[in-house]
Amino acid sequence: MTYDFDRVVDRHGTSSVKWDYEQEYTGTTGLLPLWVADMDFPAAPPILEAIQRRMNHGIFGYVREPDSYFEAAMAWLERRHHWSVRREWMVASPSVLSALSTAILAFTAPGEGICIQPPVYYPFALRIRGNGRRVVENPLVLRDGTWDMDLDGLERAMDPGTRMLILCSPHNPAARVWERGTLERLAEICRSRGVLVVSDEIHFDLVMRGRRHIPMASISDESAVNTLTLVSATKTFNLAGLGGSFTIIPRAELRRKFESTQHAVLGVAPNAIAVAASEAAWRHGEPWLEELLGYIQGNYDVLERFLAERLPRVRLFPLEGTYLALLDMRGLGIVDAALKEKLLKDARVWLDEGAKFGRGGEQMQRMNLACPRSVLKDALERMAGAFG
Ligand SMILES: Cc1ncc(COP(=O)(O)O)c(C=O)c1O
Repeated sequence: MTYDFDRVVDRHGTSSVKWDYEQEYTGTTGLLPLWVADMDFPAAPPILEAIQRRMNHGIFGYVREPDSYFEAAMAWLERRHHWSVRREWMVASPSVLSALSTAILAFTAPGEGICIQPPVYYPFALRIRGNGRRVVENPLVLRDGTWDMDLDGLERAMDPGTRMLILCSPHNPAARVWERGTLERLAEICRSRGVLVVSDEIHFDLVMRGRRHIPMASISDESAVNTLTLVSATKTFNLAGLGGSFTIIPRAELRRKFESTQHAVLGVAPNAIAVAASEAAWRHGEPWLEELLGYIQGNYDVLERFLAERLPRVRLFPLEGTYLALLDMRGLGIVDAALKEKLLKDARVWLDEGAKFGRGGEQMQRMNLACPRSVLKDALERMAGAFG
């Protein structure tokens, strides 16, 4: 191992959402936080060096993303995801969520339907409702202990007023990496009904061994022109506090509409540090990412063994993608409110409640595995103490 993912770095006092606001968010203190999706690991050394170089210059006036930034991103997509993207398809945005809101405003009207597949990243529903659009749900289904899309249900769920589908690929919190066949059928259903696909692929690089992420837009020319793809370096390389993302929009008229809407609603001058960090990540971050994925798989293996031995009534879904494991706690027979109380007050562990992600997430908890192994083991011992 070149990188020391075992090292515990104290994040208190850095305005960390995960570590510094427990009293405000939960009403209690002394918690071990394994909730929100960022990592307790320092960024890769080449990224830190690029940031340092940029900082040493000392002037942080307005910047643009240089061509070299987009070239690095394109090479990354080609190398890691076998997807050839043209420079002109790419639009920079402040964050994936800002790009999502821009897409909602640009391509749907108030009252129109936007389809999501819960349990799913809960800000999707918040953004849809917050912008006065209607949430259309097509819940995932559980088949043989794995989450799947209900594609027959999708045809029934989408009424004529449904204009957009937000895909989460890989899926947070189900930890699924969608197969080609599923994506092909999904693309065809959406295309035939004139439903635009907004594919949030922020977790695209976080794919476990034996799995491959397939960009929705890469599956066919028809899918490319009916899809907006939202990605960034921030999830892969733990740079969320810096921001920055880009949206890939092959169809020119959609791209123009997206850009004009973005200009109308947002200041889009990028963060100078984020631009330097993201480019360094795509150019030099691959060895770090490879080791990170191995470490997360190792954490998942520890979690799986621990549950089997010490908490057998808690089941685990396979981790195909993301670093977020979904724990099925229905076997404990405790309702959500009591489960939350027990985790916070007895175990003193802070996870993300599955119910927050919508239908199907009840009595489940999402656990962030991007932490040093000793932190994970501490959390598991605390949970065994409370539930064992
Ligand atoms: C599926 C998904 N989309 C978007 C985001 C947030 O992206 P950003 O910070 O770029 O808005 C997250 C963060 O966890 C996520 O899991």
